[in-house]
Amino acid sequence: MPNIQTKTLSLHPLPATFGEYRFEFVAEAPNGRESLIFTRYKDKAFFLILIKRKNDYLIKADKLSRVAPIYIVKDGLKAFRDLHGLETTFSNIEGKAPLEHIQKSDRYLKDISYFIEEFQTDKEIWIEIGFGSGRHLLHQAKKHPDIQMIGLEIHAPSIEQVAKQCKIQGIENILMCKFDARIFLEFLPSNSVGRIFVHFPVPWDKKPHRRVISKSFVQESLRLLKKGGTLELRTDSENYYLYALETFTALNRLDLHLRKNQEIEVSSKYEDRWKRQEKNIYDFILTNEEISEPKPKCDRLVFEGWVPFGEVKARLDRRLIRGEDYFVHFEQCYDIDEERGVIKLSFGAYERCEHKYLIFNNNKIQYFPYESLPIAQNSKSHQKIKELIYGKYD
Ligand SMILES: C[S@@+](CC[C@H](N)C(=O)[O-])C[C@H]1O[C@@H](n2cnc3c(N)ncnc32)[C@H](O)[C@@H]1O
Repeated sequence: MPNIQTKTLSLHPLPATFGEYRFEFVAEAPNGRESLIFTRYKDKAFFLILIKRKNDYLIKADKLSRVAPIYIVKDGLKAFRDLHGLETTFSNIEGKAPLEHIQKSDRYLKDISYFIEEFQTDKEIWIEIGFGSGRHLLHQAKKHPDIQMIGLEIHAPSIEQVAKQCKIQGIENILMCKFDARIFLEFLPSNSVGRIFVHFPVPWDKKPHRRVISKSFVQESLRLLKKGGTLELRTDSENYYLYALETFTALNRLDLHLRKNQEIEVSSKYEDRWKRQEKNIYDFILTNEEISEPKPKCDRLVFEGWVPFGEVKARLDRRLIRGEDYFVHFEQCYDIDEERGVIKLSFGAYERCEHKYLIFNNNKIQYFPYESLPIAQNSKSHQKIKELIYGKYD
């Protein structure tokens, strides 16, 4: 993660602009050890985190609000360093991406709001979840130019690599989103997808709640698959194989094909490794047999009235609320001043929650880095958050 370290630091009054970067405010945790610096670059915004350590300061990119491509964050750290005239004792932010890099990423990489609000296609959609090095995604896109491929990944360097390959190979039919696939699927229309590929998902043997395949994921996949469309899982993990078998066979009706050690057209880096180790490889191909109802849209999850931060922070700090299928956890408050502040929180469904900030600034209360996604469990959490903020909670 990009970061710089320095022995001395005295914060410049904010807001302050340096080059194309604007540092709008600093929000400080009550222990004074950690602060968030709200940073803008053109239409993108993110936090830098400032940590006061025993003998020095660490300034790093915040994981939750990090923007892509990563050079934007690195240049933000450089602007912060130069605005404060810092002498760094450590830095890993040198090097600059060429302009071409930005254009390439913007063309192939779209954020979730694009898929919720703008995305439309006449083509059949195929989705690959966790495409990693992208060999299979690129192969399918080249072989099927009439198909709109959507690649979902949470690992930014993989996305940047595949975007580069799309440009080099002149591929037009791939769009990627850096987003948890388990939530992404909720925003696609019913009966719109031909194939969903999940190749070698992380088995998460010790944290099964993080697995991509789950009962609700399979049901959501069936909703968005066309009649005859397929969900295709390929795994080398015996545990995951047994887990997936149990998950699939729990469905009411089932058209499932199971294959062992079958070659497919393209072998990924992971697959090559498993084959060298002579591991078994299992394929599940689940075919959707039904036409699904359209999914009703949830309302946007926004805040309409203003409450000064000072009034609410005492009742929010470190509070945990548990519902049957949702929760809200206020993890940490940060003060900008008496009236304004930031809260770090997590909420939504237990197995696929959202991590966000809530910013109280400019007489507005807003989720950051983007609006909370309108899905059922988030909606219930949002309702509880509103009750607490506006003081209707007993
Ligand atoms: C073991 S790798 C397999 C990569 C590739 N499919 C292959 O066969 O080489 C699993 C990939 O899934 C991605 N991943 C894990 N959980 C995810 C999620 N919830 N949504 C999207 N991608 C995810 C990881 O970042 C990782 O790149």
